[in-house]
Amino acid sequence: RAITAQSMNVQPRDETRMQSITDIITDTFSSAIAAAFPDITDPPVVIALSGSNPKFGDYQCNSAMPLANIYKQLGKRIAPRDIGQKIIENVQPHELIEKLEVAGPGFINIFISKNYGTKSLATIFEYGVRPPSISKRHRVLVDFSSPNIAKEMHVGHLRSTIIGESICRLLEYLGHNVIRINHVGDWGTQFGMLIAHLKDKFPNYSVESPTISDLQAFYKESKNRFDEDEEFKKRAYASVVKLQSFDPEHKKAWELICDVSRKEFQKIYDRLDVRLTERGESFYQTRMESIVKELDAAGFLELDDGRKVMWGDGTIPMTIVKSDGGFTYDTSDIAAIKHRLYEEKADWLIYVTDAGQATHFQILFGCAKRIGLLDERIHRVDHVGFGVVLGEDKKKFKTRSGDTIRLLDLLDEGLKRALEKLKEKERDKVLTPEELKEAQESVAYGCIKYADLSHNRNHEYVFSFDKMLDDKGNTAVYLLYAFTRIKSIARNANFTAEKIKELSKTHQISLEHEKEWKLGKVLLRFPDVLLKITRDLCLHHLCEYVYEVATTFSEFYDNCYCIEKDSSGDIVRVNYGRILLTEATALVLEQGFYILGLKPVSKM
Ligand code: ARG
Repeated sequence: RAITAQSMNVQPRDETRMQSITDIITDTFSSAIAAAFPDITDPPVVIALSGSNPKFGDYQCNSAMPLANIYKQLGKRIAPRDIGQKIIENVQPHELIEKLEVAGPGFINIFISKNYGTKSLATIFEYGVRPPSISKRHRVLVDFSSPNIAKEMHVGHLRSTIIGESICRLLEYLGHNVIRINHVGDWGTQFGMLIAHLKDKFPNYSVESPTISDLQAFYKESKNRFDEDEEFKKRAYASVVKLQSFDPEHKKAWELICDVSRKEFQKIYDRLDVRLTERGESFYQTRMESIVKELDAAGFLELDDGRKVMWGDGTIPMTIVKSDGGFTYDTSDIAAIKHRLYEEKADWLIYVTDAGQATHFQILFGCAKRIGLLDERIHRVDHVGFGVVLGEDKKKFKTRSGDTIRLLDLLDEGLKRALEKLKEKERDKVLTPEELKEAQESVAYGCIKYADLSHNRNHEYVFSFDKMLDDKGNTAVYLLYAFTRIKSIARNANFTAEKIKELSKTHQISLEHEKEWKLGKVLLRFPDVLLKITRDLCLHHLCEYVYEVATTFSEFYDNCYCIEKDSSGDIVRVNYGRILLTEATALVLEQGFYILGLKPVSKM
């Protein structure tokens, strides 16, 4: 059958979006399979990336075997290879597809077209690296970081902060409407004792704001009194009640304490370049009061030993009202989920906490469904759990003396170690003091974030500065160096960004050499990697991807010259197509880095 431009499925290019190859192949094969086997409803469309052997093509369609099984159950025997052949015959020509062949027992190997690759990558120079299309623009609320006031912000909160920030950046990039919420623990019973202690230590706190430099110590002092002094304990309880009924004097004391914590948290967010809106548990007080009344009236609450509980679908209920009439973490989450879905009008909720809270969220979602708040046909909810952070001794991450590690100390340690690393590489001899400081921060914060994100979040991970500062393997240090090297190639040939843009109008990106084409195909996969992460919210896919980009680039660079110099070091020839490929690589990496929170520097 002759292929003409008219019969060829050439989609109009959307300048704001990059195409997902997997989507195109899936659509093409869905239609082909439906046309070839109209008697099967909902036939399986299985598309996968081929292995590393180029003989098997770039992608595969593996639907023939499951289809043969379906026919077998219907009493018809068809060889999978014949099914594969019939699918191929029904594939509408598409500019993306170069060649198709049936292999082995019925796999279809799909070879993608260089011509398509050239055109697709060229759009990067015209419009930049863009996200793939999304079927719906969601309003997503991401609840992350969420430390507790006056208590330690620990490595678990750091993990939540890092993962949450990256998820927000990804979803924003894809074009969703993202609301970043810091659900701080600012309303618990700890405030009773903190306020009572504040009143004793700083009696005129309402006129003269005390400076509590060490809130942790202050917390410990009040906790000791709470545990030992009955009279104090009574006053602490009375203080919570007063606070929760918004008594102005108690509210003032509470604000003072929250402010101290808030400033500490903010230092961490600033250093890690994290943006968040604080909306703590206290925000929901009046909403908790009303939802409890509603639930009670509708008969959802059961009495249990003086408490009021509600069952979702699990084996433990939520405690909605304590026996002393107070509210709990559960109550605030029930009130918050309603607020988020109906007042914020979010249709996608994401909660980033340690995996230990998985049951809590499962029960929360179950209850929200039972009440009729959550409807999974229109809402998506995800608990993004993560494993614990371990020390190098594989035990819970603690200081030598067994205390929880202060996050600011940890970041400082990172800075110190990053500087040592740069000095070891003698970078202090070539960089200006400003450049060195920039590189130090980039490496320190980059390595902490990247070590976290590059591990599958579902597993626990060992926090090791030695490992994260290694310049070999899948680490931030390796990637940041690789990136600076890639950027320097065009710079050394005197190509500015504008000049490259001009160049792209007259020259084509070069994909002829085997290693060029290999790199080009990796770059073309970027949209698919992002779409995959929207499904499971696992950022390590992106880390694996940027690492693959960097290593494939170095394979290309080792085999293909971009700039030829003579013996005196003068440039005699520049391969423009390869300069373009190099720049496209840098742009894709840059976008990936942004999502991962890595800040590359131009010199390091
Ligand atoms: N403050 C809680 C903690 O430290 C995390 C809150 C997470 N968000 C939520 N809506 N429950 O464990």
